[in-house]
Amino acid sequence: TVEKSLDGKTVLITAGPTYEAIDPVRFIGNHSSGKMGFSLAEEASKRGAKVILISGPSSQTLTDKSIELHKVTSAKEMLAKVFEFYDKIDIGIASAAVADYAPKDIAKEKIKKNDENLTIELVKNPDILKTMGENKTHQFLVGFALETQNEEENAKGKLEKKNLDMIVLNSLRDEGAGFKNDTNKIKIFTKTEKREFDLKSKGEVAKDILNFVESQLLK
Ligand code: C5P
Repeated sequence: TVEKSLDGKTVLITAGPTYEAIDPVRFIGNHSSGKMGFSLAEEASKRGAKVILISGPSSQTLTDKSIELHKVTSAKEMLAKVFEFYDKIDIGIASAAVADYAPKDIAKEKIKKNDENLTIELVKNPDILKTMGENKTHQFLVGFALETQNEEENAKGKLEKKNLDMIVLNSLRDEGAGFKNDTNKIKIFTKTEKREFDLKSKGEVAKDILNFVESQLLK
């Protein structure tokens, strides 16, 4: 039996990619599977938390029916959904791979292939986690970072800039790590601590992350 170590806590998790519409049939997206976020949701629920999972398009399924799943498509929808619950959560974990930019205008009709070149103007999407950080009152906020250079420096920079309590760095340089795999290799940073973990299944990584969150909540 699992100890209900998150009993009484409400945990909100964002997961998966976002899709940003170009026209009625096309979008800009990314290869995020949603596995890390869904694993975190299952593990947090096992530990007794009330779990709100806000996911972009993902083929992942849940075994635990007590998890409250909200499916969204775009970054703007994800932001709006997060803030329906934000005041009432204790822990927020942003594992979604949110698209940084979205088409400025969504074409009403399917874009025809007429010209040799097609330009789609993109505008910056809202930073969901940064907005959560700016509006933080009591929530414990966890972000993810996926970096290709100056990894630790960039991760720690995001911890500060987004007003987070903890950041999970996954290295693209590590074989088997990253957002499409079943495994992940992480480092965790708080303002004062650093922990490195071995390559593990995302289920095991979820346990490490939540163990670390719990250790911080006890401080
Ligand atoms: O700035 P960067 O995209 O590298 O930050 C990654 C972290 O911020 C992740 O936790 C991700 O879920 C979150 N994020 C977000 N909204 C965005 C971009 C990133 O919530 N628009």
